[in-house]
Amino acid sequence: MLKATIENIHKFEGQEVTISGWLYNKRSSGKIIFLQIRDGSGFIQGVVVKKEVEEEVFTTCKGLPQESSFHVTGLVQKDDRSILGYELLVNNVEVVAEAEEGYPISLKEHGTDFLMDFRHLWMRTPRQHAILKIRDEINLGLREYFHENGFTLVEPPIITPASCEGTTELFEIDYFGENAYLSQTGQLYAEAAAMAFGKVYSFGPTFRAEKSKTRKHLNEFWMIEPEMAFVDFEGNLEVQEDMVSYIVQRVLTNRKKELALLQRDTSALEKIKPPFPRITYTEAVEMLKKADFTFEWGDDFGAPHETYIADQYDKPVFITHFPTEMKAFYMQPDPEDPKVILGADLIAPEGYGEIIGGSQRIHDLDLLLTKLRAENLPEEVYQWYIELRRYGTVPHSGFGLGLERTVAWICGIDHIRQTIPFARTLNRIYP
Ligand code: 4AD
Ligand code: MG
Repeated sequence: MLKATIENIHKFEGQEVTISGWLYNKRSSGKIIFLQIRDGSGFIQGVVVKKEVEEEVFTTCKGLPQESSFHVTGLVQKDDRSILGYELLVNNVEVVAEAEEGYPISLKEHGTDFLMDFRHLWMRTPRQHAILKIRDEINLGLREYFHENGFTLVEPPIITPASCEGTTELFEIDYFGENAYLSQTGQLYAEAAAMAFGKVYSFGPTFRAEKSKTRKHLNEFWMIEPEMAFVDFEGNLEVQEDMVSYIVQRVLTNRKKELALLQRDTSALEKIKPPFPRITYTEAVEMLKKADFTFEWGDDFGAPHETYIADQYDKPVFITHFPTEMKAFYMQPDPEDPKVILGADLIAPEGYGEIIGGSQRIHDLDLLLTKLRAENLPEEVYQWYIELRRYGTVPHSGFGLGLERTVAWICGIDHIRQTIPFARTLNRIYP
């Protein structure tokens, strides 16, 4: 018995193989039954022709409920009508477990909230499967990109004694009688690691207690955070545009079937190559005013503003030099104009919003102390971070890319909750 997976089915054209999987769906026209088979690696149509199989095989297929598990044996043949390009002419099935009747997800349209309640089953369906396969590709691509470019993976703690990005969005936990928090970012620890390893990245879950219900916000999401010693503001942007372009091109090459299944317009993605356009915050404000938005210097961009700015370009755009007041304490003010910082947000095309936030970091001890005091941050808990500026401080920079927003953009899907296996949002902690 020749074992095959659907992903590798092209290697078995004209051969008889066995696929172990599940019955995703089925339809029948009396003399022929079409089985939609999934095996985790993909989806394939199996054709059972009454007069060509033993009666028992036909009867079994006919009565088999959706999501039963089985081993299916058949002949692999070309089928140009499907995205896969092959189908299976079935000659035998061996049932592993017959599913109960009444599988909650049928082929009829369900609302997304209903489907999110059945996320544990919904992730079996082709669209959700394709999105999570692309997420996996991006995940691996990011790790390979940084590994190949001399970065070391250094994991920060998730339980932290202090805030890193401002105090309003923290999940508080009881740590043996003391207050602790779930980390919003690994950045400050990545800065320490950069002084030990030069170029590092962290990649892990981060937590934000914001009560936000938009299609761009999760309360638990994954962020990759590179941090680089001896790299300035400009060098930081170059890494970002190179990395984002690499990821997009890699998905275009390796995940064609999934993009086709999602009906993603790939021509928009093909354009994603360095360099990316850059505009300053001040220029962006002018642009918005000219387009009749009510917007003042110092205001934060909302979704309509970000979308309008992004729509002026066909690549992601860096908005640089935000007002110092608006951004976190660690960002390096521009020595030529300290009202603004040497940092940038990267805004994705097509309304997907900010996918990266990053900056050069304050490396001067006195400036850092001044900032901490001005923002009333507790110096004791930041001692270790301050010490990095006492012992061999150097200019350094880094950024954080939100994995789920990046997946949403590359997949072209409208809500971030579908880009993570089990989403945590304001109204959801189940399943
Ligand atoms: O802009 P943020 O808050 O930046 C930081 O946390 C920095 N410490 C990163 C760094 O410089 N090392 O978050 C970075 C990115 C955003 O651009 C966005 O893509 C994503 O993380 N992000 C979210 N994604 C989903 N849901 C949320 N609530 C998110 N908040 C931020
Ligand atoms: Mg940000």
